Amino acid sequence: MHFPLLLTFTALPLLASSTPEPRLYSRATTITIDTSKTYQEIDGFGFSEAFQRANLIVNLPAPKQKSLLDLLFNTTSGAGFSILRIGIGSSLTSDKDFMNTIEPKSPGSPSATPTYVWDGKDSGQVFVAQQAVSYGVKTFYGNAWSAPAFMKTNDNENNGGYLCGVSGETCKSGDWRQAFADYLIQWSKYYAGIGVNITHLGFLNEPENAASYASMLSNGQQAADFVKILRPALDAANMSSVGITCCDSEGWGTQGSLLAGLKSAGAESLLGTNGLITSHTYTGALGAPFATTHKTWQTEYSDLDGAWTTAWYSSGGAGEGMTWASQIHTALTSSNCSAYLYWVATQGGNTNEKMVLVDATSYTVSKRLWAFAQYSRYIRPGAIRVAATGSGLQCSAFVNLDGSLVVPCLNTGTGAVSASLGFKGINGTSVTAWVTSNTQEMVSQAANLGSDGSVSGSVGARSLVTFVLTK
Ligand SMILES: *[C@@H]1O[C@H](CO)[C@@H](O)[C@H](O)[C@H]1NC(C)=O
Ligand SMILES: *[C@@H]1O[C@H](CO)[C@@H](O)[C@H](O)[C@H]1NC(C)=O
Ligand SMILES: *[C@@H]1O[C@H](CO)[C@@H](O)[C@H](O)[C@H]1NC(C)=O
Ligand SMILES: *[C@@H]1O[C@H](CO)[C@@H](O)[C@H](O)[C@H]1NC(C)=O
Ligand SMILES: *[C@@H]1O[C@H](CO)[C@@H](O)[C@H](O)[C@H]1NC(C)=O
Repeated sequence: MHFPLLLTFTALPLLASSTPEPRLYSRATTITIDTSKTYQEIDGFGFSEAFQRANLIVNLPAPKQKSLLDLLFNTTSGAGFSILRIGIGSSLTSDKDFMNTIEPKSPGSPSATPTYVWDGKDSGQVFVAQQAVSYGVKTFYGNAWSAPAFMKTNDNENNGGYLCGVSGETCKSGDWRQAFADYLIQWSKYYAGIGVNITHLGFLNEPENAASYASMLSNGQQAADFVKILRPALDAANMSSVGITCCDSEGWGTQGSLLAGLKSAGAESLLGTNGLITSHTYTGALGAPFATTHKTWQTEYSDLDGAWTTAWYSSGGAGEGMTWASQIHTALTSSNCSAYLYWVATQGGNTNEKMVLVDATSYTVSKRLWAFAQYSRYIRPGAIRVAATGSGLQCSAFVNLDGSLVVPCLNTGTGAVSASLGFKGINGTSVTAWVTSNTQEMVSQAANLGSDGSVSGSVGARSLVTFVLTK
């Protein structure tokens, strides 16, 4: 499917005569790209608009709404995000930031016929999902933070509690696992009905944390107890292509424990052909690849506490754009991630939990969004990561399904230093380069395709440059 190709970025310090204002290049590097050495397939980049964040987009005046949607999903002018994580509600209300459930009333027992209620909005997420479809997004991850209260040991959507019927957790009302599987399938069918195909389903969010908001506890064995019900239920509903995810743990290490429990209970393969191992990185940073045959997604992370910043680089803070570029690079090159999702795209308030600060009439964009855009706009779903080796820059390389080669190179170095790059060995027909830095937001910059097939370009100090070579 992907032809082998050997590319070599060669250090080519620019000649003083070729540049109007002579600069000092203190570093030059060679990045070798070997497309015959392949790694994981990329599914994309994304975010969630759960807990009513979506309504911030819904409620914007039309021109601002369109420009914000372009910023998020447009592959020409925006970030080209390719995955939306949709929250599956469990609340009895959609006031404030609550996500309402499709089954507000208990049918009385697990075997009784449920009454589902669909409001056609799903806390604003229907609108955002349909807009995403219109931009070509094909990957939709439905994720429940909790089952409805009546299916749980604590009879509450909040404060943890377990799904009735998993190992060690019994309820007087019975075993609600099948009812919860049916519920998730019904929710997916509502989305199919409005033109949004749910491709992945998750039934847990941070299952080690009994949060004061919607939350449900589980260990790996207990997750397996539910997967063993959900898989055959999906298959019976003609949804065998829907991948089950496990388990959106709070941190990489705890996700490893959940995976081990899932495996020892014999449920790993039941996640399905498109099943995923999913983790957040709040309590444990990105680590070694998980021991699994499934793809891995980093499904949620953000700087929850830092004061709002739009900076690319200021002090190396957790909310700065360049910090996020490094995170994405590490996820792709060290942790075998096939997807990387920020927490939310939009929110009000003075924190960095979002990429875009939205109020009633307008919005402000942080450089976090542009860090994502440098990867997401050109590395499209189905791309294969290939080897990129060399020192001095954090480069990664991806071959898209259309044969184009995308090479984001991050220079975290200090001082007014540029590395001049070139490569050889590919018969590309054109090259473009895009840069984000303190003063630029995915701006086109020069890159030269030599007659010998080499490409040369520069990566400025504290800059991220994405080279795109078209076949
Ligand atoms: C994306 O942006 C381009 C350039 O502004 C525009 O021509 C195109 O219509 C936009 N795509 C969508 C789906 O809105
Ligand atoms: C959703 O799936 C259905 C059935 O497989 C298919 O016909 C339809 O084209 C898909 N819609 C989108 C937007 O991909
Ligand atoms: C699944 O698809 C088959 C073949 O198209 C069809 O006969 C069956 O009714 C479908 N089942 C459901 C639950 O939709
Ligand atoms: C990376 O993930 C893929 C699945 O996408 C898996 O087949 C492969 O073994 C993983 N690589 C490593 C080094 O764990
Ligand atoms: C590039 O084209 C030349 C001349 O057609 C050919 O000899 C060479 O093998 C090609 N290189 C690659 C990497 O395809």
